[in-house]
Amino acid sequence: MSEKKEIYQLEHVTKVFREGNNEVRAVDDVSFSIYEGEIFGIIGMSGAGKSTLVRTLNRLEEITDGTIRFDDVNLQELSSIQLRKVRQSIAMIFQNFNLMMQKTVLDNVMAPMRIAKKLSRQQQREKAKQMLEIVGLQEKAEAYPAQLSGGQRQRVAIARALAMDPRVLLCDEATSALDPKMTDEILTLLKDINRRLHLTIVIITHEMKVIEKICDRVAIIEHGKLAEIGAVEQIFTEPQSSAAKHLLLPFIQGDNPFDMTDKRCFRIVFDGRKATEPVIANLVKATGEEVNILSANTRSVGGVGYGQMIVEIPEDPVKAEKVLDYLHSIDINLTEIEGKEESL
Ligand SMILES: Nc1ncnc2c1ncn2[C@@H]1O[C@H](COP(=O)(O)OP(=O)(O)O)[C@@H](O)[C@H]1O
Ligand SMILES: [Mg+2]
Repeated sequence: MSEKKEIYQLEHVTKVFREGNNEVRAVDDVSFSIYEGEIFGIIGMSGAGKSTLVRTLNRLEEITDGTIRFDDVNLQELSSIQLRKVRQSIAMIFQNFNLMMQKTVLDNVMAPMRIAKKLSRQQQREKAKQMLEIVGLQEKAEAYPAQLSGGQRQRVAIARALAMDPRVLLCDEATSALDPKMTDEILTLLKDINRRLHLTIVIITHEMKVIEKICDRVAIIEHGKLAEIGAVEQIFTEPQSSAAKHLLLPFIQGDNPFDMTDKRCFRIVFDGRKATEPVIANLVKATGEEVNILSANTRSVGGVGYGQMIVEIPEDPVKAEKVLDYLHSIDINLTEIEGKEESL
């Protein structure tokens, strides 16, 4: 495996907001790295500190303590002129797109190049058109943002971000104002850009489905602290922190919360080694016993099948033992759930 280069290194990053005698530790002693070329997710509930954290990554927010290195450079040590230069490599998109409504799409995409005095006017136009092509909006160059759908507006914002040839794209709830179909389109586009341009992408979201769809790794933030970090498939199959379990719970259960009191229930985690359907079919074939599937949620994460199933086994102890013997014999991740499910 090739050595992964760290594009961001955060060490003990803390941000305290002070209002009178009140102190809010919006980011509290957070340390992690982001690797070049990956899609890195940061998830947490509203108020967890995600936006503050992502704003520290381009020094829109000055940190109270700790260090942030971008491409081996300590951001805090940069003069304002150096910072301006470095920021050209760090693009950002937002939930509400931040487009200039009175300017055409093309003008919007050209704006950062114009401000940075990058390229000639003609070259800026050419570059902006290329960027619009990447996001599939070349036909809309002369349109105004008001004439576009939300998804198209976010595409313009992405084209504008790409125009400066950034090393990293920070996305703060970039799909939160979009309906599910447009969300999917934007996420697919981001993944495509990540692969084609080898652009590092940092995704801030409160939605697990966003993380699941495109992220390679994810950090879970709770009350300003890093609760858990890891590969997406790892967090989805074996969440350790209560914050991760809490965020995954509605995702796994869907709209069918269930009560397992008075039942013997087991969780089977599928980790990509075994397909889900044959396990249950083979179980029934091998034991002649039925199990009741209370909840099943399997999906493709990072191109591999993952998921979990919660099954109720027969009450009859003899039948139960047959079922358990079989499940133990096939080398599968199996754990008994005690009483009411609260840990996924
Ligand atoms: N400029 C600010 N001044 C004071 N408190 C702030 C400021 N920005 C954010 N906060 C507080 O920091 C905490 C984290 O906010 P934020 O980073 O916006 O969370 P998230 O993006 O996860 O919803 C919240 O308690 C919020 O009220
Ligand atoms: Mg936020």
